[in-house]
Amino acid sequence: MPGTGIGVDTCRRAATAGLVVLSIVGTATAANDAPLRVLAAASDLRIGAAVAMGPFRADKMYREVLAREFNILVAENAFKWSEIHIGRSAYYFDDTDALVTFAEDNDMAVRGHTLVWHNQLPGWLTSGTFSRDEAIAILHDHIATVVGRYAGRIAAWDVVNEAIGDDGRLREDSIWYRLIGPDYVAMAFRFAHEADPAAKLYYNDYNAEGMNAKSDAVYALVKRLVDDGVPIDGVGWQMHLVNGFGIGDGHRDNAQRLAALGLEISITELDVRTPLPSTEPALERQARAYGDVTAFCLAEANCKALLTWGFTDAHSWIPQFFRGTGDALPFDAELRPKPAYWAMNEALAGASGE
Ligand code: XIL
Repeated sequence: MPGTGIGVDTCRRAATAGLVVLSIVGTATAANDAPLRVLAAASDLRIGAAVAMGPFRADKMYREVLAREFNILVAENAFKWSEIHIGRSAYYFDDTDALVTFAEDNDMAVRGHTLVWHNQLPGWLTSGTFSRDEAIAILHDHIATVVGRYAGRIAAWDVVNEAIGDDGRLREDSIWYRLIGPDYVAMAFRFAHEADPAAKLYYNDYNAEGMNAKSDAVYALVKRLVDDGVPIDGVGWQMHLVNGFGIGDGHRDNAQRLAALGLEISITELDVRTPLPSTEPALERQARAYGDVTAFCLAEANCKALLTWGFTDAHSWIPQFFRGTGDALPFDAELRPKPAYWAMNEALAGASGE
């Protein structure tokens, strides 16, 4: 089975042309030196990563690896309200324009993240006083402006992010819930569809991948939307994982109950954090998680895209948000591929018949 038994014991970057020289041991290894995006194309899977503006602007090699390996990108922060909607009637589009243009120049698709979230909101919004109607007008203006600007150029939007709390209920600590009430979820999808009828519209969340109380709540929410005729196309599984993770029956069952509703899934924010300093065995264990998740997405017909949250350990949210852990991504801080990279490569190569 692809993605198990990582047989790559040595890999190094050749000095020229970014070629990778492999020595392969063990059985049934299919990893090769084709970039991930080339291997993924054969399976009609989008493979991508989140992009941070700092290195995107400053580091040519960061941009080169991004364009070489991935055929879809998502902004780590640039599309969030705090970055893009800087005054009640003021928007900042330099960064998002640069990302979308880069994607087009390099034949990559774009995921938009995110239109409605309770975090990373601008001060003018969080410290203002708004009636329900004003809040609806603000939400509509935001979605019409941002989605409309990139209509036809963004393949999928995370329309609503993390609306369900860890207790399985709609978060009441969200400004949108407080100002509008539970209807804000359906409204956001309708506004997004109105602004770009071609874009796939997703609900995105964390810890709702296997079968558990939270994924039951996500399922109930999206089923209700589907039943009500709200334009929703898919569910994003963030998958910020702890090292040691493995795919189980629950993941397949959850993917398939969503498929039965007519919904896609995408793995939207994959990383696998490990205690620092990381060890070689830990990075091999991490590789199994990456291989497993990749093989899973390849095997489930409704899994359309797999994106990691960043791609190099030099730029990852993990060390700051989960203190004492890190090294969560497939490339190391010098942009050299790690065992996790080769596990993804092997799973994709196995599926593509290369
Ligand atoms: C994170 C970014 O990676 C950080 O740079 C930022 O400071 C906070 O947000 N779930 C999400 C993402 O949907 O938007 C979050 O991104 C990570 C968790």
